[in-house]
Amino acid sequence: MPGFTLRRLAPGDEAGLAEYIRVRTAVTPEVPESIEQAHWEDATYPGEVTRFLAEQDGRALGTGSTGRIWMNRVDYPRYWLGMWVLADARRRGIGTALYRATSEVARAAGKTGFQTEVSEAWVDGVRFLANRGFTVTGRSKMVQLRLRDLTPPPVTPPAGLRLTTLEAEPDLVAGAHRVAVEAFPDIPTSDEPVEPGTLEAFINRDVDRAGVPRDAFMLAVDEATGEVAGYANLILRPGSTTVAYHDMTAVRPAFRGRGIAAALKRATIAWAVEHGLEALETGNDERNAPMRAINRKLGYTPLPDELDLQGPLAPTP
Ligand SMILES: CC(C)(COP(=O)(O)OP(=O)(O)OC[C@H]1O[C@@H](n2cnc3c(N)ncnc32)[C@H](O)[C@@H]1OP(=O)(O)O)[C@@H](O)C(=O)NCCC(=O)NCCS
Repeated sequence: MPGFTLRRLAPGDEAGLAEYIRVRTAVTPEVPESIEQAHWEDATYPGEVTRFLAEQDGRALGTGSTGRIWMNRVDYPRYWLGMWVLADARRRGIGTALYRATSEVARAAGKTGFQTEVSEAWVDGVRFLANRGFTVTGRSKMVQLRLRDLTPPPVTPPAGLRLTTLEAEPDLVAGAHRVAVEAFPDIPTSDEPVEPGTLEAFINRDVDRAGVPRDAFMLAVDEATGEVAGYANLILRPGSTTVAYHDMTAVRPAFRGRGIAAALKRATIAWAVEHGLEALETGNDERNAPMRAINRKLGYTPLPDELDLQGPLAPTP
C-alpha cells in the first residue's frame, strides 16, 4: 500500500498549483518557483506543462512536472523532468510514482527521453536519477555576486557603441533577436544548440516573461549603423525581489573581443545595486571559458555545480 495518491493538476486548479509551488520551493529553496512564473508558463505555452501532486491525508508530499524544453526546437526528442519530494516523505516510492507519471506524459507526446538539471548538492536526486539510467551530459559552474555594500561598477561602453535598454527603446527588440540568432549557436551545451526561435517566440520566452525587467534588459548599439551588437538581461528569482539571475549575455560574432559583454554585464550589475538587490547569480557550462573569465573578473564566487542529465522514460508498467 503506497499510502499516497497522485493526481494530475487540471488547468485552473489554483489551490493545487499553490501546493505545487509550496512543495517545490520547500524542497529546493535555492531554485524556488512562484505562482507568477507558473501562470506565465501556462499563459505562454498553454497545455505544454503538466504538473502532478502526491498527497496523503490532504497533505501534499511531493510534486513533479514535465513539458517541452523551450530553449530547444519543438520536435526535440526529450521532455523536461522535475521532481520534488519533501525530505520526510522520501524513500516511500513517491519519486518513482512521479517518474512513471511524467514518463507517460512524455511518451504520449512522442518523446523518447528526459533532460533535467540538478544541483550536485541534491544528493538524493542525483542518486535517484543515476539509478534509473540517467547520465551526466554537462556541468555548469554556478556563481554568485553579493551586492550588499558593492559600489556600482563604472559603466562605460566600448568606443563606437552606446548602451540603452529595451524599456527606453522597445523597437530594438528585433535587433536583440538578431543577436540571439547569431550568438545562441555558440553557447556550449551538452546536446543540440540552443534554439532562439522566431522573433515572436523570442519575445514570448525571453522578453515578455514574468520577472524580466525591461529597464534591466541592456542593449549595446553600434553608433555608426544603429545595429544591436549585443544584449544582457536579468530575470528575478521566482518569488524574489532581491535576487536575480543573469538570464543571457550575448554578443554578435562580428562585435566580439571589444569588451561589449563585460560592459553590458556591468550595466546589469549597476542596475541591480541601484534597485536594492542583494545578489546576482548565474551559471555557465564549464567549457564556456570567455564568460567564466568575465564573471571571475567581476568578483563572482562559486556555488555548487549544476549537472545536466539525460535519461530514459520509465518503462511502461
Ligand atoms: C529525487 C526525489 C524526487 C526522489 O523521491 P523519493 O520519493 O525519495 O523517491 P522513491 O522513494 O521512489 O525512491 C528513492 C529510493 O527509495 C527507495 N524506496 C522506495 N520505496 C521504499 C520503501 N518503502 N522503503 C525503502 N526504500 C524505498 C527506492 O527504491 C529508491 O532507491 P533506488 O534509487 O536505490 O532504487 C527526491 O529525492 C527529491 O525530491 N530530491 C530533491 C530534488 C531533486 O533532486 N529532484 C530530482 C530532479 S528531477
